[in-house]
Amino acid sequence: MAYLSELGEVLHEEHFRILSLICGIESRVTGADGQHPIDPKDEQEKEQLRQLVVSLDQVIDHNAFEEAVLFPLLCTHGGGDLTSLLTQEHVTIGPLAKRLRRIATTILDHGMDAERWSAFRSAATKLVTEMMAHLQKEELTVVQKLRGFLDVETDHRLALRHLAERPPTRIKIPFQTTT
Ligand SMILES: [Fe+2]
Ligand SMILES: [Fe+2]
Repeated sequence: MAYLSELGEVLHEEHFRILSLICGIESRVTGADGQHPIDPKDEQEKEQLRQLVVSLDQVIDHNAFEEAVLFPLLCTHGGGDLTSLLTQEHVTIGPLAKRLRRIATTILDHGMDAERWSAFRSAATKLVTEMMAHLQKEELTVVQKLRGFLDVETDHRLALRHLAERPPTRIKIPFQTTT
């Protein structure tokens, strides 16, 4: 991988954690695990759902930073088409993340049933697909190219700003598999 800028390192680390998050979600809703609904009466699974809610908020915050700071910069450096594409993907991902968050909260508050598990799996699967493609695109077209159009001072200032603004905990990975 190309040598990353300071902001690139921060965003890359977040992308890696988001990737781990969505891989964990995917493995929980597909295959053999997908046949077993999350049981909010089980303390561990309840905690995983709580963590998922926090993680999804953090993903939404990550996207908000990109929209407020990164994409306008891209735009001013000839990346108008790319910015439009990435923004459009955020428009798809945001509601999916919020929908999954809403379903997770309902399950926490009111318990699991077949309809909720089906809705959870459906929203999770769509989010995983959209987010996977988006992360790959941003890594290749933005994160690895930041050094090319950000001067060192701006890069440093934005990295510090994002670190200061982002939620106190790093993006949680609730369905992390342990092998
Ligand atoms: Fe991103
Ligand atoms: Fe993004």
